[in-house]
Amino acid sequence: MSSIVIESGVLARIGAHVPRAHAYAVITDSNVAGLYGRRVAGSLGNAELFEFAAGEANKSRETWMTLTDALLERGYGRDCCIVAVGGGVTCDLAGFVAATYLRGVPIVQVPTSLLAMIDAALGGKTGVDVAAGKNLVGAFHQPHCVVIDAGVLATLPAAELSNGLAEAIKHGAIADEEYLAWITDHADGVFERRTDMLEHLVQRSIAIKTQFVRDDEREAAQRAALNFGHTIGHALERLSGYAIQHGHAVALGMMMEAEIGTALGVTAAGTVQHIHRAVRAARLPHRIVFDDTGPTIAATRSDKKARGGAVRYVLLEKPGRVARSERGEWTWQVADDVVREALKQFSV
Ligand code: GLY
Repeated sequence: MSSIVIESGVLARIGAHVPRAHAYAVITDSNVAGLYGRRVAGSLGNAELFEFAAGEANKSRETWMTLTDALLERGYGRDCCIVAVGGGVTCDLAGFVAATYLRGVPIVQVPTSLLAMIDAALGGKTGVDVAAGKNLVGAFHQPHCVVIDAGVLATLPAAELSNGLAEAIKHGAIADEEYLAWITDHADGVFERRTDMLEHLVQRSIAIKTQFVRDDEREAAQRAALNFGHTIGHALERLSGYAIQHGHAVALGMMMEAEIGTALGVTAAGTVQHIHRAVRAARLPHRIVFDDTGPTIAATRSDKKARGGAVRYVLLEKPGRVARSERGEWTWQVADDVVREALKQFSV
């Protein structure tokens, strides 16, 4: 895996961590350009800023095309390096540009949101959303390194902290019950932006994510566990036209998928309640309005884990542990009726 640098104030010293390159293309969105994009570009020699309009709706083939055409027009060659500065959308999109530009150029990920620091920037998954679903066109492309200045979280809006906390809750749910409880107990400190708590959050989540990706970069086995809450989460996000934010959708997805496991007798009683407490503490939604669960079930069918046309779910054994099937698999096939009942449990 790539090296990960976590250092306060590192954005001003980024030159020490990027590979040698003829030119640097700093890709950022319209929210982050003025905050950090220009600062990062300014601290690198021979760097230009490439900005796109912020928002999940722009994590698209169209934006990928605009960015790659701009790089071609400016004459960037294989000796360039892309530097992604921003949140999850920027990490995924710039990563896909780097994976495909001239058949692949190096990228340094500089995540500036909690969600990007503990999830999107790590592990080399890149891609764009398409009409059929989220992240369905993409590539694996490991970054040269990931550079994290946790100090930037001091000014991150509370809603963005909630979004990141959803992924941290997922890390606790799949790998560390104590961490899940720590998040529940310390979420207020995170919202107060206590440096010690933000640092613990970033470090523990990165350690868990790395543990799942290290020996399975291409998701043939245990990396799939990182999709807990995401089969339903991605479906909710897409059906809302991305009006539901990723962390909100994942929070709901985790509770629903824990409920599915409970209904099947795979997940220990009380697990849903543990996740529910963490979700409430993280100021994430725990209910959703469904007129009809049918479209959500239909939307899960485009999930990337589907095999032989059947949707697969990550199920927990208990808080902190993923359930493996009798055949040792990390994902489970679940009947629509069971999914439908779980969706209804959390609907108003
Ligand atoms: N976000 C899930 C993964 O990186 O595998």
